[in-house]
Amino acid sequence: MADGSSKPLNGMSDLTASEIFLWQELEATAREVCTLYGFTELRTPMLERIEVFTHSLGETTEVVQKEMYDFTDRGGRHICLRPEGTAGVMRHAAGLGQDAQNARWFYMGPMFRAERPQAGRKRQFHQIGVEAVGEPNPIRDAEVIALQSSLLKAFDLSGFRIRVNTRGTAEDQIAVQKGLRAELTPRKNELSEDSQRRLDSNVLRILDAKDEATRAVVDSLPPVTHWMSPESLAYLDQVCSLLESLGLPVERDPKLVRGLDYYQHTVWEISHDALGAQDSLAGGGRYRIKVGSKAIEGVGFAVGIERVIMALTAGGRQPQHPQPDLFLVSLGDEALKQNFALMHSLRDQGFHVRMDLKGRNMKKQMNEANSLNVRFAGVRGDEELGQNTLQLKDMNSGEQKTVTLEALSKTLREEA
Ligand code: HAM
Repeated sequence: MADGSSKPLNGMSDLTASEIFLWQELEATAREVCTLYGFTELRTPMLERIEVFTHSLGETTEVVQKEMYDFTDRGGRHICLRPEGTAGVMRHAAGLGQDAQNARWFYMGPMFRAERPQAGRKRQFHQIGVEAVGEPNPIRDAEVIALQSSLLKAFDLSGFRIRVNTRGTAEDQIAVQKGLRAELTPRKNELSEDSQRRLDSNVLRILDAKDEATRAVVDSLPPVTHWMSPESLAYLDQVCSLLESLGLPVERDPKLVRGLDYYQHTVWEISHDALGAQDSLAGGGRYRIKVGSKAIEGVGFAVGIERVIMALTAGGRQPQHPQPDLFLVSLGDEALKQNFALMHSLRDQGFHVRMDLKGRNMKKQMNEANSLNVRFAGVRGDEELGQNTLQLKDMNSGEQKTVTLEALSKTLREEA
């Protein structure tokens, strides 16, 4: 429809057969790998109270200030569509109290951010994420990064880079902010208006600025690690050496900060060349999130499914469509009726069976069988009905043979 009424909203997509099988494959792989690492699936709602995100991601972050789909519901509650998964999972953990100690969850589903859409950047996108509750411990962080790497490998993805850094402890963060302010205040006039405002409210966010003038200033600054305590740097050293012992070398990037305020200690980001400007395939880190009077600590990551698919497709990956076992071809009305019953009984036995439901001519039925890439076609007309048989054609070799209905399932099972 030319008026666009058949299209989804800008930045959102219908997922169709051209992609859906690859999505299902990735989701199934993620379930398998996360289970191997002892993580269980958690499904939290897509709508949450706004504070779940403002209090955890940070009031002055880009996501909270510019990208949330928030509104007041019919009961006057200020709520929003989740822009990410971690905050909702930690809200759930807070409700469990002591029972959440050492909990390990994975999740997958849609997230919403009102960003300017472009290739690889959607307003409804999908993440697969994991969160492991627990106090700071380099082994736990290394284990989650190892899981992240195993997951991408299980997706059959290569050519990704893991960059890690530390955000330090809460005390380090105060020292970093002080250090950054001391560097940036004398150069205030070189910063964009937005960044000038952040100088007071959240100086760390200036490091994410995109405009050229601010970038030039930011690039000349010492890395955040410059102001951190030796203990925090030693924590990161331990994470890196643990990963090395697993044969998973990671790159240290002292300039990496990540765009959410809840992070403390280890942070990482995974990039892939195939993604161009939106090159972040996944990101994660250790965090401390306040929910009411409680503070919950954990470590986790989220990978963007759309971006994984972009990277896989750029590498030539095609979705695998499921192959039907059999297409029943009906010559005449009686054969159509009996094939309908036969199809039902074969499906009950677990076979993937298709047939033409409209009584079209044989050529059209065979064309459909071909387009569905079926393994066998089974032709039945009056003669076959009388003899309780069908003509079974192997669509790979072209070979054809008469098979009795009795022997059909055995033949399909053996030759599939
Ligand atoms: P994030 O870096 O904001 O982290 O997002 C993680 C991943 O989601 C990105 O690397 C990217 O693949 C994907 N992503 C983000 N925004 C979009 C978008 N607009 N369109 C398509 N894909 C997108 C988080 O969300 C944290 N919750 C990760 C985490 C979990 N940290 C600790 N635990």
